[in-house]
Amino acid sequence: MEINICILPGDGIGVEIMNQAEKILDRVCLVFGHDADMDYGLIGGAAIDETGSPLPRETIDICQGKDAILLGAVGGPKWDHIDKSIRPEKGLLGIRKEFDLFANLRPAVLFPELRSASLLRPDIAEKGIDLLVVRELTSGIYFGMPRGEEMRQGQRVAYNTMIYSEEEIRRVARVAFEAARRRNFRVCSVDKANVLDVSQLWREVVVETSREYSDVELSHLYVDNAAMQLVRDPSQFDVILTSNLFGDILSDEAAVITGSLGMLPSASMGLKNPALYEPVHGSAPDIAGKDLANPLATILSVAMMLRYSFSMEREAQAIEAAVKKVLGKNIRTGDIMSPGMKQVGCSAMGDLVAAEIG
Ligand code: IPM
Ligand code: MG
Repeated sequence: MEINICILPGDGIGVEIMNQAEKILDRVCLVFGHDADMDYGLIGGAAIDETGSPLPRETIDICQGKDAILLGAVGGPKWDHIDKSIRPEKGLLGIRKEFDLFANLRPAVLFPELRSASLLRPDIAEKGIDLLVVRELTSGIYFGMPRGEEMRQGQRVAYNTMIYSEEEIRRVARVAFEAARRRNFRVCSVDKANVLDVSQLWREVVVETSREYSDVELSHLYVDNAAMQLVRDPSQFDVILTSNLFGDILSDEAAVITGSLGMLPSASMGLKNPALYEPVHGSAPDIAGKDLANPLATILSVAMMLRYSFSMEREAQAIEAAVKKVLGKNIRTGDIMSPGMKQVGCSAMGDLVAAEIG
């Protein structure tokens, strides 16, 4: 079968982690007899430097014909002070919107091998973490209009609009309920319905949608409580369904309690191809180009891509098992290093995982 994708390395550690993704894909193709057709495109700061735009038309055109997009990371201090309409992050927000990738799946799993790296108290970490954040990705306060900055009565004011239509809520809610059916049949919807109108509609529509999924148990939490529950007892969660901004914040929290942001993959999907896969972490400019980055989040994103975009469950599991084997051999990158372990760089980690596949 043909694995037809576009790779967008982006900025910072993006290039080195994408090299590892390619290694893994080459290995999967060899072992399982597939062909990979990989094209490349520019996004973020790298695209600004070359073309003046964080998401050039050419990149969209290249992605258009593909089944999936694999993205590294965008942003860095070099572009912090440029015109805010062309910031690197606009490239990421733009590609999500362009392909209507409204459902962002961010699994947070505490690998037993990394339990000592978790920031949680040992008796809490002991209970395990295996949850999935389903974050709405193309609406809410990130994209709502009106937005802007202006003068009012001699003062600068700035504003954004948190807005959802019922269809936008319904379609992402369905993704969460469907995901729960492949997991532990529980969805916790997170909102701020005690204060925000937009959250009241969110809750109503989620409750309505839940009637199509009577086998899935639905609960609700206010976002402040959810943030607290995530550190108090993350083992209580299965699927967390939430809006764009709350999901941005809670998914970082969910990620860091597992021990390292460097371990967590994500998928962003719409109703048709291409879907987009990327590590949850950012471009880490401080360690870029030093062969220090942890490529495992990217490698696990490749597994998610094969599973969801190509229905290659065996191949996905082979990658996930290979990651576990390498961790089981006490091999670590710097971010998940602990005493008694062997530290390796980004490229060596990629080689070691590839070698365990098949
Ligand atoms: C994320 C990131 C992005 C977001 C930024 C880089 C625009 O934090 O993917 O979580 O806020 O969505
Ligand atoms: Mg974020």
